[in-house]
Amino acid sequence: MQVEINKRRTFGIISHPDAGKTTLTEKLLLFGGAIQTAGAVKSNKIVKTATSDFMEIEKQRGISVATSVMGFEYQGYKINILDTPGHKDFAEDTYRTLTAVDSVILVIDCVKGVEEQTRKLMEVCRMRHTPVIIYINKLDREGQDPYTLLETIERELSIHTRPLTWPIGIGSHFKGVYNLFEKQLLLFSPGKTKISNDIFQVDNLLSPELDSRIGKKPAHRLREDIELIEEMYEPFDRDLFLEGYLAPVFFGSAINNFGVKELLDTFVRIAPSPLPRFTLEREVEPDEKSFSGFVFKIHANLDPNHRDRLAFCRVVSGRFERNKFYFHTRLGKKVRFSSPFGFMANEKNIVDEAWPGDVVGLYDTGNFKIGDTLSEGEVIHYKGIPSFSPEIFKELVNKDPMKTKQLEKGIRQLTDEGVAQMFIRPTGNVKIIGTVGELQFEVIQFRLLHEYGASCSFYPLNYYKACWFTSDDKQRLDQFNLRKSQYINYDKDGRPVFMAESEWQLQMARQDYPEIEFHATSDLN
Ligand code: G4P
Repeated sequence: MQVEINKRRTFGIISHPDAGKTTLTEKLLLFGGAIQTAGAVKSNKIVKTATSDFMEIEKQRGISVATSVMGFEYQGYKINILDTPGHKDFAEDTYRTLTAVDSVILVIDCVKGVEEQTRKLMEVCRMRHTPVIIYINKLDREGQDPYTLLETIERELSIHTRPLTWPIGIGSHFKGVYNLFEKQLLLFSPGKTKISNDIFQVDNLLSPELDSRIGKKPAHRLREDIELIEEMYEPFDRDLFLEGYLAPVFFGSAINNFGVKELLDTFVRIAPSPLPRFTLEREVEPDEKSFSGFVFKIHANLDPNHRDRLAFCRVVSGRFERNKFYFHTRLGKKVRFSSPFGFMANEKNIVDEAWPGDVVGLYDTGNFKIGDTLSEGEVIHYKGIPSFSPEIFKELVNKDPMKTKQLEKGIRQLTDEGVAQMFIRPTGNVKIIGTVGELQFEVIQFRLLHEYGASCSFYPLNYYKACWFTSDDKQRLDQFNLRKSQYINYDKDGRPVFMAESEWQLQMARQDYPEIEFHATSDLN
């Protein structure tokens, strides 16, 4: 088992849309030999057009199921790349997928630098202390100065950086990178189809070879840069990287296959093998004998003739076996999977076994919720990622009273799948749907109608944020509950949530009730 664990690397690639995540993913698969030609990986970008194009959006989402997990072998390692949706409206999917990875590669566009989604995604990584490798992309464009970029990353993403390669020029003057780790010079020549680049061992930067390879002026500049970097930064410390404190940085141009192989080669060496994970009860080590795992994503089949769903389960410990009975700890019942999927290259195949770090796709007829735990009998519950406050709130309006039951069932199942969050206002049993994007409302409306036969509409609500709240002072809590009752609703687990209409109202509540703690996420610990 230890051999299987040690050779696995399970990670996600994250970025602000358009920084080059899809391109980098494809190039990693290309270098890993999992695909033969560039262009084989379909972009999972969801392009919003008109409402009538909803099926097109779903088709695009359907494609992304096949590429949800991309497994391949490289230099004796088994690599699992977990894909994350690029569209902002599906950010919650990405946050949940981050619970199932052991490290991430963060792609940053050197022209645009740190962007909005970069900040949000890094916040989630920091919360979980996920080790992060940074790939600064598009060096073939006139981007920002590398020192400025690193400074901005450190300041805005609150992480220390350590360049492992350093660019020589940028944009039209981009000549390549110097690999500080291997002491190699990598020369850039544009080209989307070529795989290899010219590499020269340059142990001594004072060597005249450097001048002849890149020219006198750039060579002089590189010597100065490297001297400065070695002064400014401590040598790369893997432990600090594994603690999520320090991010090694690579520069390249994914579209030109440049700097990608170096990234992959270093990645397999420094990235962590499957890590232990916390349950509410205890910490679980990957090399424990008994299998355990958790569901981090559910994908529904939109074909009304095939209502089954696919639940993605990350194996945390032990060996997962086909046809064996496992314990569904939330439902307290035994379940068995006769055709679990594994993911190799771009294909789904039935697998007989899986190891820690792997993801298995399990057919589900409605038993799973995001965050569910499977074990061999022990009652444990993996801690998922907490819910964040949605940004858009709407009341669910039932348009067909004859189908109330179907609507109730449908909305419960869709929110279990993680399509959106639901809050209940006790008076009148009002259901409030909260999402991070408008697209989800279309998804819900369409799916309720087509899968459950229930028609609904949405009534916009003027909420700004949902805050979970707690306090040790019961008296003040009671007062707050009473005075603010019109703003207090309950999440699906029955926890009270304060729904403020503005930042100002939230601030006032904080000021007036200092005894009460307001939480930005559903994790109240
Ligand atoms: P994403 O998944 O992060 O959203 O980004 P994606 O890989 O789709 O890349 C976004 C755009 O950036 C694409 O161009 C892609 O070709 C381009 N790109 C990626 N890497 C590089 C690079 O190293 N240099 C340059 N100059 N461009 C790069 P597009 O025009 O949106 O799409 P396409 O028509 O090229 O596919």
